[in-house]
Amino acid sequence: MRRYLVAGNWKLNMGPAAGRALAAEVAELLKGRTLRGDALVCPPFLTIPAVGEVADGNPLLLGSQNCADKAQGAYTGEVSVEMLKEAGVQYVIIAHSERREYQKETDDLFVRKINLILEAGLKAIFCFGEVLEERQSGRAEEVVRAQLTGVLPRLENANAYNLVLAYEPVWAIGTGETATPEIAQQMHAFTRGVVAELMGEEVAGYMRILYGGSCKPGNARELIGLPDVDGGLIGGAALKAADFVGIIDGAEASLD
Ligand code: PGA
Repeated sequence: MRRYLVAGNWKLNMGPAAGRALAAEVAELLKGRTLRGDALVCPPFLTIPAVGEVADGNPLLLGSQNCADKAQGAYTGEVSVEMLKEAGVQYVIIAHSERREYQKETDDLFVRKINLILEAGLKAIFCFGEVLEERQSGRAEEVVRAQLTGVLPRLENANAYNLVLAYEPVWAIGTGETATPEIAQQMHAFTRGVVAELMGEEVAGYMRILYGGSCKPGNARELIGLPDVDGGLIGGAALKAADFVGIIDGAEASLD
């Protein structure tokens, strides 16, 4: 019922030449295959056009890791949603824990950005998740509920088609430590329940909720196969073509 999404977040890696080469390698590995879900890569802004050039039979969708919270104007250093759309971007990652932490981004900003993304007809991937201390003190659900409640009710025209959620426990990001299947399923089911309260049962039923945090070929099938996990947001493992395709293979195998 929910089509899986495997999304690679390249973070601050891969200039245009390296990015084009990586995308071409992934496309080559996927050549001739019909995927039953979606595969997406989110390069740095500057690398997006180069990756977009890897066209021929390339099944990879194109995304970005951020966008401006303004449509246009005197905002030095920003990149707008319309510019991203023109470059072929279909998805924009918002509220990644690294932007929450290093750029001090807030709910107000996430709401403005996501509303611009949806208004332009693009899709947003909204990230949330607890830090280690919050998990250890038994507050993971409370934190996730607050992160969802602070943003979802304020979105205009969000639905299960244009909004994707990504549960990313911060203690699992880039650490090699993955959430256990029990924790992942429990947090995803909890998230779906909160979405049902905020957006209705039907939207919650169709909403894709990705897992992110040290997802790799060896654990992708089990994680993505969980009842409420609909794909992965992949950092480190998205930088190696074989690993990224290995995760896509895991997502495919979870459907068998
Ligand atoms: P990781 O990053 O796969 O390297 O843990 C995930 C993410 O930050 O989206």
